[in-house]
Amino acid sequence: MSFFRCPLCAGPLAEGARSLRCRNGHSFDTAKEGYTNLLPVNQKHAKLPGDDKGMVAARRAFLEKGWYAPLREALCALAVEAAGPAPAVLDAGCGEGYYTAGVRDALLAAGKTPLMAGIDVSKFSLQKAAKKYPGIQFAVASAYRLPAAEESVDLLLNVFSPLAIDEFRRVLRPGGTYLYVVPAAYHLWELKQVLYDDPYLNEEKETPYEGFAYEQIVPVSYSIHLPVREDILALFQMTPYYWKTSQAGAARLEKLEELDCRVDFRVHVFRREDAGPAGSKEW
Ligand SMILES: C[S@@+](CC[C@H](N)C(=O)[O-])C[C@H]1O[C@@H](n2cnc3c(N)ncnc32)[C@H](O)[C@@H]1O
Ligand SMILES: [Zn+2]
Repeated sequence: MSFFRCPLCAGPLAEGARSLRCRNGHSFDTAKEGYTNLLPVNQKHAKLPGDDKGMVAARRAFLEKGWYAPLREALCALAVEAAGPAPAVLDAGCGEGYYTAGVRDALLAAGKTPLMAGIDVSKFSLQKAAKKYPGIQFAVASAYRLPAAEESVDLLLNVFSPLAIDEFRRVLRPGGTYLYVVPAAYHLWELKQVLYDDPYLNEEKETPYEGFAYEQIVPVSYSIHLPVREDILALFQMTPYYWKTSQAGAARLEKLEELDCRVDFRVHVFRREDAGPAGSKEW
């Protein structure tokens, strides 16, 4: 049985050779790379939503070089600490799977048997993710309509992806953990100084989300030295600045041969509070 639920009727999905199928006969093709498209056409807001092919390739190239490995290690440590012996883990907005796979490996190394799943709205991300990480269930879906049952997730990951808090509240079981990675004030500050005449610092805030209790905020801050232009451009292309930079700013960046840059993340650790009186189990 798949971790995922039917996006049309919320029923369980049985795994066939090349599809997932619910008891009501709704069937979803599994692509050759191994991910399943669970995004119904009427929920698709763009022809090819989410990160495009170039952004995904840039992210894969950059992450594979280990520049964000300290963040992955911090997530792994928090996941191992929070998870029970057989946790269901969902990475919402998983991209090409770098953190999803890292957390899975860490849980396995700690002797746990995770059921690991990732969703993203970008099929290009999942093509790369599913091909490289066959031990993880991947589906094209929106975080705003997760194809997952109520209270079916023990550990939820969200690394730089949309905050669909209502859905996160629905799928995370009471007592479950939510790891939410956001950029802190000085994240990529030196890159922004090259791109913009008047760069701004990221705002840092603590937001109390209904149904979630703050456990801790873990800072992950360090500097990277990007030694070649290829790495600088990959970093640029995987950020939202890629779409928001003037030609002059991009031209300044193109000329750089190397870059020293701060990386500044915060991992917000939440625990899903106990639900109140039992509500409807339907969604
Ligand atoms: C900044 S990337 C982060 C990817 C990955 N977590 C990482 O850190 O490598 C944001 C991701 O959110 C995805 N995304 C955007 N809107 C989404 C939505 N509504 N539901 C699910 N994923 C979404 C994008 O396709 C992209 O892969
Ligand atoms: Zn169905």
